[in-house]
Amino acid sequence: MDKFTIDGPTPLRGSIAVSGSKNAALPLMAAAILGDSPTTIRLVPKLKDIYTFNNVIRVTGTSVQFDEENNTLKIDSQNLGFAEAPYELVRKMRASFYMLGALMGKTGEAKVSLPGGCAWGPRPVDLHLKGLEAMGADIKLEKGYVMGSFPGDSVPGGEYELSPSSVGATVNLILAAVRRAEVFTIKNAAREPDVVLLCDTLSKMGANIEGAGTDTITIRRVDSLKGIDTSNDPDRIETGTYMIAAAMHPESSLTLTGCKPEDLGAFPDDLRNTGAKVTIEGDTIHVEAPETIKPVSVETQIYPGFPTDLQAQWATLMTQADGRSTVTDNIYFDRFSYVPELKRLGADLSVKGNRVTIDGSSALSGTSVMSTDLRASVSLVMAGMIAEGTTDVLRVYHLDRGYEDLEDKLNNAGSVIVRHDED
Ligand code: UD1
Repeated sequence: MDKFTIDGPTPLRGSIAVSGSKNAALPLMAAAILGDSPTTIRLVPKLKDIYTFNNVIRVTGTSVQFDEENNTLKIDSQNLGFAEAPYELVRKMRASFYMLGALMGKTGEAKVSLPGGCAWGPRPVDLHLKGLEAMGADIKLEKGYVMGSFPGDSVPGGEYELSPSSVGATVNLILAAVRRAEVFTIKNAAREPDVVLLCDTLSKMGANIEGAGTDTITIRRVDSLKGIDTSNDPDRIETGTYMIAAAMHPESSLTLTGCKPEDLGAFPDDLRNTGAKVTIEGDTIHVEAPETIKPVSVETQIYPGFPTDLQAQWATLMTQADGRSTVTDNIYFDRFSYVPELKRLGADLSVKGNRVTIDGSSALSGTSVMSTDLRASVSLVMAGMIAEGTTDVLRVYHLDRGYEDLEDKLNNAGSVIVRHDED
């Protein structure tokens, strides 16, 4: 297992190119399975989650070719002969559950393992299953597997209201419906950019989808979908992560290129409220750190609200703010595994319910820290970059799931991060 050794403090100066989005690429890969001819997806990041999903897709007999040098993925499902996703692979990554919608849409039936637990609390899939039933599918659970099938080539469809709104359930229901449901409406659908990109991509393939980006999405069945050559979007969470990192050290001045600023919702304004100077020009974002960071409290909400995938990074920034702030997670109530680790570095945080209170500013000093999830891990790297001395961040495989070339990108902007074997 790898670890990072980080020497700090160092400002971030220069420029970082943002990679393609992990969370947007996964639904596009599932959508490619629905096509009757090969699909090419560009701007796909080289990340462990993408490799895992490639392998999940390959199990079905679908051909997946990843041209890593060009971040281009070619998916051809013409030889798909096995509509299953096994536990051994699905347990590695929750989003593999997108195979349920994709395979049911493609072949009319699927056997997909339930994703199982997660490092930060229960993340159920009940809405995916109830939505499919509302569409007219038969759903059975057997020995940890979901067996889904449509009774016939198509179903009349219907309507399902998600409560709460869910990205994953919206994606799965769209994937299942496009070739099978005469008319199906998703109420309280996720409005996240990842869902909009999925709908736009499926529409280019020939799907009939209305309302993407609103909370009501209506899908009308089409007989066939063609493969296309298309592009993924830049990663909005990676963008937000580096924007926050750039605000943490008073001498930082960082330019991010290849971004999609319109996907960031109100986030740039949240960062401006800390005193950081954020300038957006086309697909380039420039962040200059404030002399003194103002405390700014945030609450996570579904898009376009503050993303839960940036709350750990925000709390880390707030350890350097001049005063008290809070971070409340309304999406996942116990996503705070980073708190004890930040405390080990010298930060002052306390958790009550789904809220962490941060008293800044604290001088951080390097030590060994470890974390159990992707966004918590990157927060510890960011803390290490402004801590005095050497910080070891253990188990960086979490980072390899979601941040392409993390240490190279940060080191090119002035960080001192070395990857070693943990043993
Ligand atoms: C996706 C993102 C993840 C992000 C999350 C919230 C991917 C691969 N992952 O996860 O990075 O943190 O959105 O923005 O895109 N829920 C249910 N029943 C369900 C499904 C969800 O109760 O069947 C609840 C969840 O517990 C949670 C809320 O709905 O409280 C939102 O979860 P959801 O949007 O589904 O998250 P994911 O799609 O799993």
